Amino acid sequence: MRKRIGVNQLVLGMHLKEFCGSWMEHPFWRTGFVLTDPKDLEAILASSIKEVWIDISLGLDIAVGQHSISEEESEHAINAALDEAQTAPAPLFDLPPLPRHITPVSAAKELERASRICQASKAAMVSMFEEVRMGNAVDTGGAKELVEEISDSVSRNPGAIISLARLKTADDYTYMHSVAVCAMMVALAKQLGLDEAQTRSCGLAGLLHDMGKVAIPLEVLNKPGKLTEAEFGIVKAHPYEGFKILRLSADMDPVALDVVLHHHEKVDGSGYPKKLKADEISLYSKMGSVCDVYDAITSNRPYKPGWDPAESMRKMAEWSSGHFDPRVLQAFVKSVGIYPVGSLVRLTSGRIGVVVEQSARSLTMPIVKAFYSIKSGMRFTPVLVDLSQSKVAEKIQQREDPANWNFPDLNALWSSVPLNNHG
Ligand code: C2E
Ligand code: SIN
Ligand code: FE
Repeated sequence: MRKRIGVNQLVLGMHLKEFCGSWMEHPFWRTGFVLTDPKDLEAILASSIKEVWIDISLGLDIAVGQHSISEEESEHAINAALDEAQTAPAPLFDLPPLPRHITPVSAAKELERASRICQASKAAMVSMFEEVRMGNAVDTGGAKELVEEISDSVSRNPGAIISLARLKTADDYTYMHSVAVCAMMVALAKQLGLDEAQTRSCGLAGLLHDMGKVAIPLEVLNKPGKLTEAEFGIVKAHPYEGFKILRLSADMDPVALDVVLHHHEKVDGSGYPKKLKADEISLYSKMGSVCDVYDAITSNRPYKPGWDPAESMRKMAEWSSGHFDPRVLQAFVKSVGIYPVGSLVRLTSGRIGVVVEQSARSLTMPIVKAFYSIKSGMRFTPVLVDLSQSKVAEKIQQREDPANWNFPDLNALWSSVPLNNHG
């Protein structure tokens, strides 16, 4: 069982499950261990971390008479942020109309096409990285054609390609990550009411934001563990390396140049390479940062499995004050969902299902494919439930962590593609 406690309540012998707050300031990359070394405890107390989650089934509990911080209180923070996202005023401008030739379709309908676009885009990114590695400039024309395809898929249905691009193996991360960030940048640009040309620029910036990773040796990039300080130093050069690469293309979009250089800045000034603060960071780079982190934490990596999408949204809302621009994060939540496609949820009826599509009416009432009854402990033939329909009485009761369940076909359930990367 998990308890949230203040760091002043920590004692040796407790099982540290998770840190609350800014992850970059954590003294450790990994959590999930029993605190036995007094040095570790000192490191935590010396850090800016104020609260942690402990697991009392794996380590010591707090003393009798002490109180933990309730789950409710911690949920409160995200709910406040997300409520605000729901009731937030309309975008800056009216949403631009869909390009005339594009008709919206359901996620289910778009999936097959989106899957083909993902595969083709990944192949194109593999060769683009290859070209750049050989010292050639980025083929801007080719990149723009890719953005066109990806952005049309987003216009038909944003959930399909965004969720598919999340399903990647640790090996193809860098390539699929580019595709995922491109798709999310396009969806976010539309949500923010940017015009057609700006939206394309955002897509291009997303596709190219990590080109500088060609300068990072593969042993570092795919290292199955925590980076040393020296290694992280190498990683931190990738925004500038990327800038130098994109600068080689005479007709490079200035938005892409901005985002490649500044997607790791944070609003509190603790990012890199320039330690820019709030207003010094462009809207485009703030967008890049949100999309980049969401895809990074929901994807499987050589050093850690991906987190559930809804859980990731919650964590990002929790970090948001230091890292992200709150208004951009809100727009992101609105474009991808509080329960993004692929999230595992428990319904008030006691059924468990996976989110297959957002509903236009409400962020908390997506369309869910229910497939498991908690009461009987058994699966049933999946049924689609549109929680936004007034005749449907069910609601989402809570997120469920897929790690606590044995649903190996979870991704196939929503994607109808027999992929099983998230275990
Ligand atoms: P960042 O922290 O600046 O990390 C930049 C890149 O360094 C990462 O890009 C990844 O390629 C590499 N990297 C960072 N830490 C490690 C590590 O411990 N081991 C290895 N092998 N590589 C590492 P990536 O993965 O695309 O992540 C982009 C950003 O997403 C990160 O920038 C960070 O802001 C966020 N992020 C990624 N994973 C986590 C996480 O587990 N927790 C939190 N809070 N944020 C994360
Ligand atoms: C934060 O900086 O607030 C946490 C997120 C991160 O560092 O990736
Ligand atoms: Fe990056």
